[in-house]
Amino acid sequence: MSIAIDDLPVREELRGKSPYGAPQLDVPVRLNTNENPYPLPEPLVERIAERVREAARGLNRYPDRDAVELRTKLAEYLTRTGGHPVGVENVWAANGSNEVIQQLLQTFGGPGRTAIGFEPSYSMHSLIARGTGTGWISGPRRDDFGIDIEAAVRAIAEHRPDVVFVTTPNNPTGNTVPRETVLALYEAAQAAKPSMVVVDEAYVEFSHGDSLLPLIEGRPHLVISRTMSKAFGAAGLRLGYLAAHPAVVDAVQLVRLPYHLSAVTQATALAALEHTDTLLGYVEQLKAERDRLVAELRAIGYEVTESDANFVQFGRFPDAHEAWRKILERGVLVRDNGVPGWLRVTAGTPEENDAFLDAVRELKKEQSR
Ligand SMILES: Cc1ncc(COP(=O)(O)O)c(C=O)c1O
Repeated sequence: MSIAIDDLPVREELRGKSPYGAPQLDVPVRLNTNENPYPLPEPLVERIAERVREAARGLNRYPDRDAVELRTKLAEYLTRTGGHPVGVENVWAANGSNEVIQQLLQTFGGPGRTAIGFEPSYSMHSLIARGTGTGWISGPRRDDFGIDIEAAVRAIAEHRPDVVFVTTPNNPTGNTVPRETVLALYEAAQAAKPSMVVVDEAYVEFSHGDSLLPLIEGRPHLVISRTMSKAFGAAGLRLGYLAAHPAVVDAVQLVRLPYHLSAVTQATALAALEHTDTLLGYVEQLKAERDRLVAELRAIGYEVTESDANFVQFGRFPDAHEAWRKILERGVLVRDNGVPGWLRVTAGTPEENDAFLDAVRELKKEQSR
């Protein structure tokens, strides 16, 4: 007897739904999940091995439940790069920023509550909302993928969501949300409820502009979410973190599982933070490659959304999925995020980007024949 998900007594809102599923295909050039293409440098690999060996000696014990050393180092990193001093009491860490977002929705969302995001945006916000029983509201964006302040403020006033997501730089479009827009949304959210505003800055290190970290000052309902998956080149580590008023850090502890961050994760993240300057050096290279992708895609004749991230949204295609398939046939995996007419490519190494540009050049020729 074959039994499928819907034959099980799963929650009603999960019936007929699909899990997050960026394809993990074995192709020569993978530019589809916004990872950093550079493996960690060898001295850091050695340091991780050393720190993990030390941690292994204590694995009979539970790890530091509050991850104090790690949060202190993350606070130092934020203070140094984010334009605003924060301490350990402002910072919380979890297994990837996806888990940070899940903990925020478990704390401030949940059954009977709602969250809003301005779409297209990071698809996991709505998926995590669903997983936590939080109602999802899809807020509007303009045709150029910017957030229209008036339309967004109206949507917040109408729906009075408990959580507002703002992703900047936005994924998959790559554009930054201006500070004034975030401030306007925060004001609207306070007037409507008041609700929590989560600014997802997963890609901020690749931005031409500054972090919105200073905005947490005097705004206890504002949370900045960050990750080590992108700029730190450590997607496999699974380490995300947030910065906010200390009360927010206290609140998420009501829902976090005890000892959620393993001793191995904490040791590895601490080793990576010792090598921050080297890792941020790769970010500069990736920014230059991102800018080259934008320029060359335009020269070939594609439309490109202005990008402040380590990826570029390009189009337009009469059938984006068909174009995705044709690029894949040429050995390059990009991402079809379901935005009609558009695809997204992650900035890879110069060689990977050349392979991608060759593929889309050929595609353009084929389409104009
Ligand atoms: C906007 C945004 N936020 C969060 C994440 C999740 O990152 P993490 O690996 O820290 O869970 C991603 C990953 O692609 C992202 O694009």
